[in-house]
Amino acid sequence: MHQTLICSETGQTYDIDRLQNLSDTGKPLLAGYDLDSLRETFTPQAVRARGERSMWKFWEVLPVEAPEQAVSLGEGCTPLLSCSRRGPFEPFSRLSVKDEAMNPTGSFKARGMSAAITRAVALGAKTVALPSAGNAAGAATYYSARAGIECFLFMPEDTPPANIVESAVGGANVFLVNGLISDCGKLVRQGCERFGWFDLSTLKEPFRIEGKKTMGYELAFDLASPRVATRELGLELPDVIFYPTGGGTGLIGMWKAFDEMEQLGWIGSGRPRMVVVQAEGCSPIVQAFQAGAGHADMFPNAHTVASGLRVPAAVGDFLMLNVLRESNGTAVSVTDEDLLQGVHEFSTHQGIYACPEGGAVWKACQQLAADGWLSPDERIVLFNTGAGLKYNHLFPVDNLPRLDHADPDCLDALTD
Ligand SMILES: Cc1ncc(COP(=O)(O)O)c(C=O)c1O
Repeated sequence: MHQTLICSETGQTYDIDRLQNLSDTGKPLLAGYDLDSLRETFTPQAVRARGERSMWKFWEVLPVEAPEQAVSLGEGCTPLLSCSRRGPFEPFSRLSVKDEAMNPTGSFKARGMSAAITRAVALGAKTVALPSAGNAAGAATYYSARAGIECFLFMPEDTPPANIVESAVGGANVFLVNGLISDCGKLVRQGCERFGWFDLSTLKEPFRIEGKKTMGYELAFDLASPRVATRELGLELPDVIFYPTGGGTGLIGMWKAFDEMEQLGWIGSGRPRMVVVQAEGCSPIVQAFQAGAGHADMFPNAHTVASGLRVPAAVGDFLMLNVLRESNGTAVSVTDEDLLQGVHEFSTHQGIYACPEGGAVWKACQQLAADGWLSPDERIVLFNTGAGLKYNHLFPVDNLPRLDHADPDCLDALTD
């Protein structure tokens, strides 16, 4: 492959043609590409002209030598929906939502798993394992099934039932653990050593981030406008991006994508301000950012209904904090009550049944506008990272009115 793996801390290179996890210093490995050699053929115009309706339209910067090698279920190419100026959304004139719920298995985790399982299988992996508090489990299950390999999942007992059922139905070996995702991670490590599984944990293998970075490439195309004079496609980035952050793969991935696009000559040096959004009950990155720290401490007693945000310690913490500082961004936390309110507002005013993590970014956006950190006229992108349908258990509706269809007057109640 015309790619290499680079330690995100030391810059040391590693063999890309072997299954790899963390570097010798215990840090994430990132994929590097010979972007100069791609400049001629890999252009925005060429990508736009491709018929491929998945993230693999960017295959030159993904871990394959040809797009046909991908283990794909049609992930990516999600819509960027502009928000109607209704209700609490009224002040925001250029607000949009990248709706990642439209992915296979209902979340952005599909992108990462498609890339990681594609590469793992190409390098001979027969069994993969990971801890997951939700959507990664479903994605790993179905991409493993697609590839014909075995998948071991370790999930906290309080993982949303939909994620557990989805994974069990998809044939994964599911284990429920009486602890947090970090406790599940320990079991995965032990299992990998003992049974030879390949560890697919967030940022502990190099390619989930590659899949997720395609969100950054897509955004530039979603906002592109044709340059009439040169007949080129003028790629654009938003002013601000709000991202619900657990392990941070998407945030780090998008930042990497922007860097690659600049090296390819597709965009200039301007960057969006990146905003990390976490739940108040689990906000290690927010705390570290506010303290001006380079790493985050383990967050004690992590709890939130937004299961994707229940990550008390992240291996890529220093990478996220770098992105926030380099982009002039910030980090905010939202209470569970607020983020569930955010889901209601997305649902009733925008027609988007967002996941709680998506509800959180909307409330964080409102909060930062109220604080004057951003102007409602800026071009803002919110990430709805998953489908609200997987979180139905958070919205009990037992008190709906019942009607007796045999009663001819049953609709009378509506006239009061
Ligand atoms: C719906 C949802 N949003 C956000 C996240 C956090 O993603 P990341 O690990 O990229 O920070 C997750 C992770 O589980 C998730 O399922």
